[in-house]
Amino acid sequence: MRRKLILDVDTGTDDAVAIMLAALHPSLELLAVTTVNGNVEVQYCTENSLKTLDFIGRGDIPVYQGCPKPLVRPDFPVPRSLKKDDGIHIKTLPLPPAVSSKQDKNAVEFLIETFRNATDDIVLVPVGPLTNIAAAITADPDFVKNVPEIVIMGGAHYTGNVTPAAEFNVWADPEAAAIVFSAGFAKLTLVPLDATFQALVTGEQAKALEDLGSNAGIAASRFIAQRIKGYDATQPMKVSGAAPVHDAVCVAYLVRPDLLETRHVNIVVETQGMHTVGRTVIDVNRRGNNEPNGHVAFGAQADIFIDMLMTVFQGGRRDHD
Ligand code: BDR
Ligand code: CA
Repeated sequence: MRRKLILDVDTGTDDAVAIMLAALHPSLELLAVTTVNGNVEVQYCTENSLKTLDFIGRGDIPVYQGCPKPLVRPDFPVPRSLKKDDGIHIKTLPLPPAVSSKQDKNAVEFLIETFRNATDDIVLVPVGPLTNIAAAITADPDFVKNVPEIVIMGGAHYTGNVTPAAEFNVWADPEAAAIVFSAGFAKLTLVPLDATFQALVTGEQAKALEDLGSNAGIAASRFIAQRIKGYDATQPMKVSGAAPVHDAVCVAYLVRPDLLETRHVNIVVETQGMHTVGRTVIDVNRRGNNEPNGHVAFGAQADIFIDMLMTVFQGGRRDHD
């Protein structure tokens, strides 16, 4: 049986690769995409998600739009590093305009109803700020027990990417993240930068994706090339000419759990610190008294990830044969 999942995204170049991987992997059934304010404003995240699905021939997968702002903060506390465009994400992804439309229902309502009525296990995979998920937890006292597994892209133990302390998804809505990590999900996996920085995709590999000739290969190649340009300019990786594709790593993990090396530890989120707001405090040495509440990935096998992208992106629509 294929694993059912719902992706909560802020599309976003790497979100788009995650969507395509989830929509085309033969072992996965992507039930829906929900969008949240993050990399770009939520209406752009929605449009980018719709056009990505249309482009690969999966416009049948519904897209629900969610929260336009963080849970309690009036807006992002935008630091200087984000005021200038870092070139990693683009407001409008370079694909033909969407022909399908978003659903009328709000994403939070959709998530609550879907998990309440589910007869099979559905994995929830949030790869943007955690606003929609925290809103669902707050609105429905049963939401947490209705979700059998949640796999989150976010957080950082060694170093942040948006501030020295914090990773973007958690930093962009720290109160929401704090609610999610303390909610008591039966199985929570966190895929932070520590893992995604180890699954880099190079320019040569992006070119090989384009050479597949499929729409998914061409789109992935475009998005990853954009990411490499942005990373090389603003936060070069240990290998230059390469970039992480964070969100897609979470999707790949659902099919190949051996892709990630995880540890069961306690995770809390800093919501107050002047220099550390949005930091995930991960108790790797059991220094505190709190019990483990999540499986945190500290290692990733790049070859498993790249091989999966190359294989799966041969599928879907082809407009260039
Ligand atoms: C995360 O932040 C976003 O910019 C990416 O889409 C990813 O989900 C990485 O910090
Ligand atoms: Ca994202």
